[in-house]
Order: sequence, then C-alpha cells, then structure tokens
Amino acid sequence: MDAMLKAAGTAGMVAEETLDPVDWADVQALSHRIVDDAVDYLRDVRERPVWKDMPAEVREFFAAPLPRSPQPLAQVYGEVTDKVMVYPMGNIHPRFWSWYMGSSNFTGALGDFLAAIQGSNLGGGNHAAALMDSQVVDWCKQMMGFPQSASGTLVSGGSMANIIGLTVARNTKAGIDVREHGVAAIEKPLRFYGSDQLHSCHRKAMEALGLGNNALRRIPTDAGLRIDIEALRAAITEDRAAGFKPACIIGNAGTVNTGAIDNLQALAKLAHEEDVWFHVDGCIGALIAVAPENAHRVAGIEWADSVALDPHKWLHAPFEVGCALVRDASAHRKTFAVTPEYLESTPRGLASGHWLHDYGLQTSRGFRALKVWMALKEHGIEKFGRLIDQNIAQGHYLGTLIEAEPLLELVAPPSINIVCFRYRGDGLTGERQKALNTEIMLRLQEDGIAALSDTTVHGQHCLRVAINNHRTRRDDLDLLVRETVRLGQEILKSGAAR
Ligand SMILES: Cc1ncc(COP(=O)(O)O)c(C=O)c1O
Repeated sequence: MDAMLKAAGTAGMVAEETLDPVDWADVQALSHRIVDDAVDYLRDVRERPVWKDMPAEVREFFAAPLPRSPQPLAQVYGEVTDKVMVYPMGNIHPRFWSWYMGSSNFTGALGDFLAAIQGSNLGGGNHAAALMDSQVVDWCKQMMGFPQSASGTLVSGGSMANIIGLTVARNTKAGIDVREHGVAAIEKPLRFYGSDQLHSCHRKAMEALGLGNNALRRIPTDAGLRIDIEALRAAITEDRAAGFKPACIIGNAGTVNTGAIDNLQALAKLAHEEDVWFHVDGCIGALIAVAPENAHRVAGIEWADSVALDPHKWLHAPFEVGCALVRDASAHRKTFAVTPEYLESTPRGLASGHWLHDYGLQTSRGFRALKVWMALKEHGIEKFGRLIDQNIAQGHYLGTLIEAEPLLELVAPPSINIVCFRYRGDGLTGERQKALNTEIMLRLQEDGIAALSDTTVHGQHCLRVAINNHRTRRDDLDLLVRETVRLGQEILKSGAAR
C-alpha cells in the first residue's frame, strides 16, 4: 500500500499546482512567530485600549480590489498585524461589557486552528471529529439536565439555535405535514408566545418560518422584567377562543436587556396544561445551570422541549458556536432529515457514521466542537460554573457601587450579570438625559476606557453593562464608576450634551 502511494506521488509529469507551500520550513518558522505574537497579544490585552477607531488609511486599505498576483505570506501576515489586530472589536478585553459577548480563550483558539488544520466537514460521516461533535452535544445535554435520549446540534450561535428549536415546535404543533404542504396549509393560524423582552432573533425566526411577526404574541413583563404568567394564560385562552392554535411558549433564561429570568417552572407547567411546546431561549443564562451558587435561578430548564444555548457566551468559546437541544429526538430529526441519493449511508467506511446535517439546516458544518471540547477538558465544567458565579457576583457588586453613588441610578434591578443604569443629570429632560448618557458611553469607548452599550428598559434609556467576561476584576468596575462620574460631570460642565 505504501509503495502504491509513493508511486502515485512521483508519477505525475505535468506541473500541477497546489496551495501547499513550496518550502514548509519557511511556513513553519512564520507559524511559530504567529503563535508567539498571539500569546503576547492575549497576555497583554489589559494594557491596550478596549477599542480604538480606525484612521482613514486603514479604511482605505480594506477597499483594495481583488488580489490577482501572489504576495509572500510574511507580508500578508504583516498586513494582518498592522491593519486588523490593532483594531479589534475589543470583546477579549477585561473592560468590554457591550451587548452580550464571550471573551474567548487561548485554548479555544488553538482548537479552531487545529479544526481548520484537520479540515473535517461535520455534515457527518464516520470519523473522530463527528464523534466529538456528538460528544459535545451530549455534554450540553448533561449541563442542562436533559435526558441522554434527547438530540441536539451545534450551530453558528444563539439565533440559529433558537430557529432550530422553533422550527421543530412549528412542525410538531402544526397538525399537518408542514415540510410537504407548507405553512399555507395549516388549518388554524399558529401562535407563539414570549415576553416583551424577547431577543430580536425570535422575530426573524417567525418571519423565516413563514408564520410572520404577528404570530409571535408579546406578553407584558412585571417589575423584574419577567413574563407575566397570568397575562400569558389569558392570552392563550383568548387566542384559542378566537380560532388560533397556541403552539409554543418561549421562556427567557436571561433576557438580553436586563438578564431577567422567567419563571421557567411555571412556564413548563403552563405549556404542559395547554399542550403547547416549551422552548427556552437560554443564550444568556442556560449555562447558569452549571453554576453552583446560581443554578436555582434556571430551575425548570430541564423540563423544556427545546433549549437554545450559546457556548460562545458563557463558555467563552471563540465565535461562533451555539447549541440547540431537543428533548424528542425523533421530532427533531423528522423536522430536518432528508437523504438525497448522493448522501446515502453505507454499512462500513466513511459514510457509515451518523449524518449530523439531519438535525439542522446546514449540510456542510464546521468542526466547532473541538474548541469547546479542548477548553472543557482543560478546565473542567466546575471552573466554568465558578466563573459564571463570579460574573453574577460582579454584576451585583456593580449594582451596589451604583446605588452608593448619588450621581448614578439603577434603571432595573440587577438580576444576574447585566446592570442597567444612568447618570442622573438632575433636572435634565428624557431626551437630554439620553444625550448625556450616550455621550458618556461614546467617550468611554473612544478613550479606550471601557465598552458599554445602551438600551431602553420599560421606556427608560440607560447604559448597560453585561459582564460576560472571565478577565473582568472588581477594580475594573470601580474604575468604570469613577470614569462615568468624571465624564458625566465634564460633559455637563462643557454643555456638550445639550
Ligand atoms: C437572549 C438572547 N437570545 C438570542 C441571542 C442571539 O444569539 P447569537 O448572537 O449567538 O446569535 C442573544 C444574543 O446576545 C441573546 O442575548
């Protein structure tokens, strides 16, 4: 066999091309430099500004046309270091708290590199990467308290994970074969329910599912931004009487605005009584289930029919990786499986493995599992649980700092690791207060001090700090409060917010 392979390697007389380097030793030396630079980059992240804007020359660089002729790899790498690495989004920095990002980790980055080196396609097949993909899904089931018989799939992120769960919900509750006949054939219009704090990806999901945004009924929330269960019950009864078919309740395990966690046990019970699907959007908070001090907050998640969770958030996997879990594996498979003639299984060999593309919309799938697997093996899930507890404790710590500072006020009670607050600016009207706080946020970003974002909670504009970051320390939060106060005073003095 070896001789045959050798002969194949020397037989060609035609000068055929490949993307492989002419000199592997050169590439090896450059690669060592890249790894050394990467380690320095991550080690020294705290010393750099969180974010800085790009000069015109960098923007112009990215308008260059399609390259037609070759350039040495070392030069290409030089462009990456000068034009890309210097201007990151900043979410690996200890004082990045905008929107809701994970802060990545070096082991995960090595996993992404090795996944690309091995190059496997996780559409399925009989190979080790496919077994690892299924193993990571099994581990996610264990984290959520789902039974071993459940199914799941790794996807690009939370938005896709929610779409997977909601598609299975639609198909299971439609009362017809939606795959064959389409949504137009559904007898009674389906209704989905979630709180007025649902993430915008659910709207996109409803649109993509052909049900339309109006099929998603937003239920009011209480003072803690949790869904009002009685209002939900009344809405379901009202819809049923009006000829709709209530199909799915979406519970929030951590809303994007404030981190509020719906009463998942009550929602599971209501879904059972009403015979509707229970999906949990756990992109932010599902992983709290592994955090010893806070797991009680997401009790009931294990009763869901489907859960969306996001390892690229609180497991800090490098982007992208989300996970959808479905309790009824056959409903999951029935929603997506299709076997074209060119993807039939064989009794042995490469095509004898599980077809992982039968659990989602993608056919080709990246080897996302490796970065999660390596970091979980290196640290163990207990450490990730402690880091989640740490971020939640930091959220509460920041809440107490704000309460103690007369110039600032909380706009919502901190539930987990998201803190919504604002500079009071006494005497300022709503719009002027918003302008002041927006200016504070922009200066914090532009000065490279900290990255926060803003939102509006129950009609009140506020700054929003989401501490999903394993590098954040309490002194970073002390600094944030000090700098917010300083900038607020400075802006008010100069009249810049008016
Ligand atoms: C509650 C919630 N759901 C869904 C999403 C979408 O997740 P992704 O950005 O991974 O697609 C987010 C993102 O922050 C979120 O906070």
